[in-house]
Parts: sequence; C-alpha cells; structure tokens
Amino acid sequence: MEFIDLKAQYRALKQEIDSNISQVLADTDFIIGKQVSEFEEKLAAYVGVNYAVGCSSGTDALQLIYMAYGIGSGDAVFCPDMTFVASVEPAFMLGAEPVFCDIDKDTYNICPDSLERQIKAVCAAGKLKPRAIVAVDFIGNPADYDKLRSLADQYGLLLIEDAAQGMGASYHGKKCGALGDIGATSFFPSKPLGCYGDGGAVFTDSQEMNELLRSLRVHGKGSSKYDNVRVGMNARLDTLQAAVMLPKLARLDDEIARRQEIAGRYDEALKDKFVIPHICEGTVSSYAQYALLAENVQRRDEIREKLQEQGIPTIVYYPNPMHRMKVFADCFMGDETFENTVDYADRTFSIPFSAYLTGEDQERIIDVLLSV
Ligand SMILES: Cc1ncc(COP(=O)(O)O)c(C=O)c1O
Repeated sequence: MEFIDLKAQYRALKQEIDSNISQVLADTDFIIGKQVSEFEEKLAAYVGVNYAVGCSSGTDALQLIYMAYGIGSGDAVFCPDMTFVASVEPAFMLGAEPVFCDIDKDTYNICPDSLERQIKAVCAAGKLKPRAIVAVDFIGNPADYDKLRSLADQYGLLLIEDAAQGMGASYHGKKCGALGDIGATSFFPSKPLGCYGDGGAVFTDSQEMNELLRSLRVHGKGSSKYDNVRVGMNARLDTLQAAVMLPKLARLDDEIARRQEIAGRYDEALKDKFVIPHICEGTVSSYAQYALLAENVQRRDEIREKLQEQGIPTIVYYPNPMHRMKVFADCFMGDETFENTVDYADRTFSIPFSAYLTGEDQERIIDVLLSV
C-alpha cells in the first residue's frame, strides 16, 4: 500500500499530463514558458489573490518573501515549534533569528497565547526586533488567522502564511495562501498540489511586491536579466512542472472534497480509540496528512510496528520539534517549555491518505487500527 498514492493520481490524469509534457518538449521553451504564466494566473484565481509568482520550491518561496521584506540581522521571526524546518530556515540564513512558539493542543497550529508571550519576551529582552510571524497551515489545517491578524496588527508584525501543506484548504471561505499579508506554498510531489520535482509559489495582492518577487527570482533583474539591480536568486518555476500541475490544479477541489469523505470515514471509525484531527468550525483542511494521536510514545511505536507488519506504512510528521534542533540551539527561547509540541511529537503518527485511497484500503487500515 502506498502512503500517498501518486501513481493512482497519475493514472487518473495521465492523458492530460502526458500531452502537456509532450507540448513542452515540442516547444523546448523550458524556462518561463507559456505554461508558467498560464499556471500562475489560474493559481492566483484559485487562491483568490491578485498574483501568484511561481518559483523553484517552497523553501525558495519563503526565502523570496524574507528577502523582499528585507528581513535579516537583528530581526525576530515567530514560528510554530512544530513545522518543517524550511518555514524559518531561510530567515535564519539571512541573519534573522527564529523564535519558536508552542502549538495549540487541539489544532497543532501555532498557539496565539504562546506567540504573545514570546513577542513580549523578545521585547523585554531588547536584543531582537520583532518583525514577522510565519503561520503554518500544519498538515493542511488552517491556523487561527483571526487571532494571528489581531496580534500582528497589535505588535506591528508582518503575517506570512506558510501554506506549503495547505493548498485547497480554506478558512471562513478564503483559501489558504491568501490568509496572511503574503503567502508561500510548496509543490513538493506529496503535497496536496504537487509537481514532479521541486516547485513553489508566492501569493500577493500587491503589484509592487509581485514585481519585486519576479525580479528576485531571476538574479535581481531590472529591465532585463542582464541588468541586475539587486541581489536575487535563481528561483524560477520550470515550465515542465507548470505543465504537470495545470490538470492537477483543475482537479484540486474535487480531490479536496474526496479527502473530506475519507477523513470523515476515518474520524467516525477511529474516534473512540485515538485522538482524531480537530478541524475548527468554518475551516476546511486539505488533510495533507491524516494524523492520529496514540496514548503515549510506546503505544504509538507499537501501533506503527503492527501496521508495518500488515504492509500499512505510517510516517511521523514530525518527530523533532524545532526548539530541539541543534541548528537552532543558540536561538532565543524565552521561558517556553513547548509542552504541547513535545506531547504531540511523542504521540503522533500519520496513516495512508490521498484522494485516491480505495474503499478497500480504508477498510483494511481501519480494521488493523481497531484490532491493535
Ligand atoms: C510547512 C512547510 N514549509 C516549507 C516547506 C518547504 O517546501 P519545499 O520542500 O518545496 O522546499 C515544506 C515542505 O515540506 C513544508 O512542509
């Protein structure tokens, strides 16, 4: 059994994907070909923003954002303690310091109370300048944007949405990617909208920011790529990847609907034995992962082993909270104990999930989980 069945998705979309790839090969317009702008326009319309700027990965999307806002030395970037390192790694590379915040014990997203404590602690310590919050739609579940918006406004912070795991999800009718001052996403193959390699995008409503990002993604170009007006990156989205994603984007809402059905079935069957995902009223998760919590770390590991024996793969997203990573060992931690992140990391495991998971496989997974 596949953990995320990308092969089944390819079989379903094969004709369109193959034909789009053939077209790119025939055109040999591999760099910023017409499929890139077509994809960017359709993606911006889908997310509900004025501009989507395609780029080379989710990590690079975040780096472009940090560069565009001049985030660097002396700046504090507030980030959930439970995320993938790339949420904040590019800011750290640019000289800023990540300040981790505990997660909410139900949604596993950044906890607004912990965030406010950390903002106050940074202000009191007086060494770093609070600059930005990077909110992550963790495993596809939108963060608490109403509270984050009001904290961002109160403390004068930029609100960046890391929607790498949230494509297709929504918060009170607005799509993920459009929920902060600026948003980033990843098209890593296993993401809800994935390509066949690396890719990403930045979302903005501002024309000025759109132009700046387009310059930054091509070596800081001015009027042409041989007229460089700032330091930039080589961070373009490949034409081939855009061509692969055009049919996937057209199908994304159908896939998200199918994901709700499968999650509903898992929820119903597993709710008495495990802690199931908590999706807040008015929000739709993309279920980038379907994560369960076991009683404790030993039980979690036993269950994973039993599932493995039955040929059912599981993955832990993520076993290591950010505050425990060696790379961030010298960063400002305040007085936080990160209790919820540690508890989550010890108990979580994700089970096979995709819009293409068959009813038979769902049943088998549920049966094994109920019998362990
Ligand atoms: C939350 C989060 N942010 C950023 C990234 C980085 O995306 P990419 O792998 O495309 O660089 C990922 C990818 O795993 C992610 O999950």
